[in-house]
Amino acid sequence: MTDIDQRRRTLCMQLLGGLAGIALGGAARARPSVDESARVFRLDGADVTYAFGVNGEGQLQTLYWGSALAAGDTLPTPVPVPENSSNEMPVTITPLEFPGFGGGLTVEPALKVTFPDGVRDLVLRYVDHQVGNDRIVVRLKDVSRAVHVSVTYAMDAATGIVARSATVENRTAGWIQLDQLAAASLNLPYSDDYRLSYLTGRWAGEFALQTRPIVPGSIVIESRKGVTSHQANPWIAISRAGTQEEAGPVWFGALGWSGSWRIHVDMDALGGVRTTAGYNPFDFAYRLKPGESLASPVFHAGYSGDGFGGASRMFHRYQRERILPGAPSPRLRPVLYNSWEATLFAVDEAGQTALAEKAASIGVERFVMDDGWFGARNGDKAGLGDWVVNRKKFPNGLAPLIRRVNDLGMEFGLWVEPEMVNPDSDLYRAHPDWVINFKGRPRSEARNQLVLNLARRDVYEHLLKMLDKLLTDHNIAFLKWDHNRAWSEPGWPEAAPAEQQRLYVAYVENLYKLLAELRRRHPKLEIESCASGGGRVDLGIMALTDQVWTSDNTDPLDRLLIQDGFSRAYAPAIMMAWVTDAPNFVNKRVTSLEYRFLSAMQGGLGIGANLNHWKDDDFAKAKRLVAEYKTIRMTVQQGNLYRLVSPQGGSARSATLSVAQDAKQAVLFAFLHSGGLREARPRIQLRGLDPKKTYALRAISGGVSPRTPKRASGAYWMGHGLDVVLEGDFQAAAFVLDGA
Ligand code: DGJ
Repeated sequence: MTDIDQRRRTLCMQLLGGLAGIALGGAARARPSVDESARVFRLDGADVTYAFGVNGEGQLQTLYWGSALAAGDTLPTPVPVPENSSNEMPVTITPLEFPGFGGGLTVEPALKVTFPDGVRDLVLRYVDHQVGNDRIVVRLKDVSRAVHVSVTYAMDAATGIVARSATVENRTAGWIQLDQLAAASLNLPYSDDYRLSYLTGRWAGEFALQTRPIVPGSIVIESRKGVTSHQANPWIAISRAGTQEEAGPVWFGALGWSGSWRIHVDMDALGGVRTTAGYNPFDFAYRLKPGESLASPVFHAGYSGDGFGGASRMFHRYQRERILPGAPSPRLRPVLYNSWEATLFAVDEAGQTALAEKAASIGVERFVMDDGWFGARNGDKAGLGDWVVNRKKFPNGLAPLIRRVNDLGMEFGLWVEPEMVNPDSDLYRAHPDWVINFKGRPRSEARNQLVLNLARRDVYEHLLKMLDKLLTDHNIAFLKWDHNRAWSEPGWPEAAPAEQQRLYVAYVENLYKLLAELRRRHPKLEIESCASGGGRVDLGIMALTDQVWTSDNTDPLDRLLIQDGFSRAYAPAIMMAWVTDAPNFVNKRVTSLEYRFLSAMQGGLGIGANLNHWKDDDFAKAKRLVAEYKTIRMTVQQGNLYRLVSPQGGSARSATLSVAQDAKQAVLFAFLHSGGLREARPRIQLRGLDPKKTYALRAISGGVSPRTPKRASGAYWMGHGLDVVLEGDFQAAAFVLDGA
């Protein structure tokens, strides 16, 4: 590069940065910039720089992703990695931003295509680019066929998180079949000490944190279930061996997709680490007719130098400010009551009214009637699909119950599972063809139900009409939107054989469309994403739902682990947690009401206990704790979360601290599974406070050592810390620090 080139490049970057500042009156914003002569692109936002360029082969090559570089830093001109041997061709060892399967690529492609003549070779080359306010879009095209790909990078200024996606357009004269489409490939340079973290699980055991070294070979995490799944969640984090909770590099990302997905992480022959995330290529074959296009889901990728804690706080912020329906200021979660664990399917007007009255007396703000209110739904064998009020249970419809709930000062919420049908239902009897199935093949039931084919227009329209009517006829503020089984026999007999696999995409697109349209028609409506607990938690559904049901496991001890795992990826702002009965239905564990409350108060608080069994003392305790929760929920739900002591790895203790965005309040929760051997009690040092502010300590529950000051500086609470007294089994304590 000549001096003139260099000066022009720097000038261009400064100009784009400067213009960006002027446009927003100096407010923080992402700065996309491009060095036209070197064909180097750069996104700068918060403490992050992401850079890539076009190499001499016309390939889009990764240059850098990590902590912010100086504005004037020159990134090396992209050059393909030279052939290592005849077995490692440059295309396979060069870090590419969006590789097509072709030209000798043997690592994971972002796009794989089949042409009508049997050719399955796709070599993508740079065509042109556009630079917008916060984004860069680069257009690629196959070397000889009119397959165009727009690769988009949109950076969030506040966090430096890059939303990556790609759209494939078929401009050929015939069809093309997409066998594989990812949002992105993301590359990291060789290191022998990368660790991959991800979340796995099962029903009642979601968000289990897994960590393993990244070594040569591939790691695949995925869902083939048509839904996000409990089994694996589409989030990953890559760290270094020395990364800790509050220090060290973490590259992380999550896919916004609520259907079958896959994240593939591999280390190639020369040690390059590549993450490819998108539609699950398993059983994926999406035909594009001439002129059609398909967009990938979005992969949201971030970097933090402040450890796992820094990464998750950054991601929580991004979700609150950029993803959730109320972004950038999502509404606080109301305290809710849910009838499920109390009554199961045995809901009726008198029973629900009695529960509502009791719930109101402890300060509940939203009363939610769960499954069982419609059709012949007296168990899980019948009625699903028949969304008409069961007149035996509600002789005068839902109106009297809703009126009573509203008169008690609460919003009314209702459970629905629109995407499903019991074969024993009027809907299925009328439309047996409406379910996902293969012609003439058995239809596997799970929980006695089948999945409606929401990709079909008539099914979409039926559900929209039914839900719209339900919401128009009743004062329903909230829907708990459930989805209780994985797909099976993923066929769409009415579609041409070559089109049937569009199901994987079309279903989810229509689900999103349905949710969006209902929200448009009923702007005050809030929705919870539930799938037998936390089976559909991802950034795709999150953009259309206000909260998620974390897990059907409401045991407060198990929940500490589930909530810790959840918090690695997702914000407490959406994480619902209920106080239910003891013994818990999942594992028969008995814990105190106080312990159950404190565990549930780490997220959006709900009560799911059978209030008919509560004694006066329980109501008094609950009323006090609900009132306390309302004074701290802003901090808990939307503050910065510090996992001070993680319950991972069998730790008997755990502690979290939530610090309000203005650092004027902090809330500490501390738990002990069981003490033994008179082991020493570790002092808890706080984080994230304003060192100069004075904070007064107030106990919600539990005690501290008698020598603990009532007020002290943030510096004291962080440096010296406090001794929380926890002795015995299943002990919990919670404290508020109010800053002056
Ligand atoms: C599964 C959900 O996770 C539960 O909370 C409850 O709503 C049941 N479905 C109802 O069938």
